[in-house]
Amino acid sequence: MSDDTAQRNRPDAAVPRHIAIVMDGNGRWARSRFMPRQAGHRAGVDSVRQVVETAGHLGVEALTLFAFSSENWSRPNDEVSVLMDLMLRTLQKESARLHQNNVRIRLIGERSHLSERLRLEIAEAERLTEHNTGLTLVVAVSFGGRWDMLQAARRFAQDVREGVRDPDDLDEALFSGYLSLDGLPDPDLLIRTGGEQRISNFLLWHLAYAELHFVDTLWPDFGAEELKAAVASFAGRERRFGLTSEQVERLSRA
Ligand code: IPE
Ligand code: IPE
Ligand code: MG
Repeated sequence: MSDDTAQRNRPDAAVPRHIAIVMDGNGRWARSRFMPRQAGHRAGVDSVRQVVETAGHLGVEALTLFAFSSENWSRPNDEVSVLMDLMLRTLQKESARLHQNNVRIRLIGERSHLSERLRLEIAEAERLTEHNTGLTLVVAVSFGGRWDMLQAARRFAQDVREGVRDPDDLDEALFSGYLSLDGLPDPDLLIRTGGEQRISNFLLWHLAYAELHFVDTLWPDFGAEELKAAVASFAGRERRFGLTSEQVERLSRA
């Protein structure tokens, strides 16, 4: 990584421009209360609300929430239905308020696997909020990091076939433009709740230099205070992007 990249990713920023979250632990939260797993998913929506609001107040530019992975399709049918239904109803209920709060909604993932109703609701929320200038809220649904890289490679190959692109021109910036998060800075901070310390096929390309924050807190117990604690932990880290500490210090004085 060049000096240039480190300069662009100024290491002195106390607030991450982009936070990504793996919202895990809903099922265990419910089970510990002798409730069905779906009660945990429902409780998780309150955490989403709090985190979106707090991220906006902190001045975060983008928040990407992992709501449903490519692999989650293999869960029992009734749990998948509950999750899809919850997503639809949450969008219907929250879009107007998010719009009032100047939030821009964007969905990443394999849309063709979603129901037509959900696809329409997503398109409507994206259209309604597309000119908003506050927080960009990215919801990853039917998303996998490997799926994202494959769809990007496929589209690039098509452009080459059509003579629009030359393989020799392919560099990181050009390839990023074919990925789902096109136009947003890479996440600076990845949070995963629920105690597991893994990526689970989330943003494989974009997390290259993210700071990782793993907490045992189950997603329905995660709220404004926990988000602020994660951001405080981020602020105390030195991001070196392959450079030495001395180089980083020189850059932050420049
Ligand atoms: C995260 O909670 C929500 C989704 C993956 C959709 P889980 O449902 O994975 O909860 P645990 O990990 O089983 O507790
Ligand atoms: C990751 O959680 C996906 C989401 C939070 C949407 P999982 O519960 O599916 O992850 P694994 O299976 O424990 O790795
Ligand atoms: Mg889980």
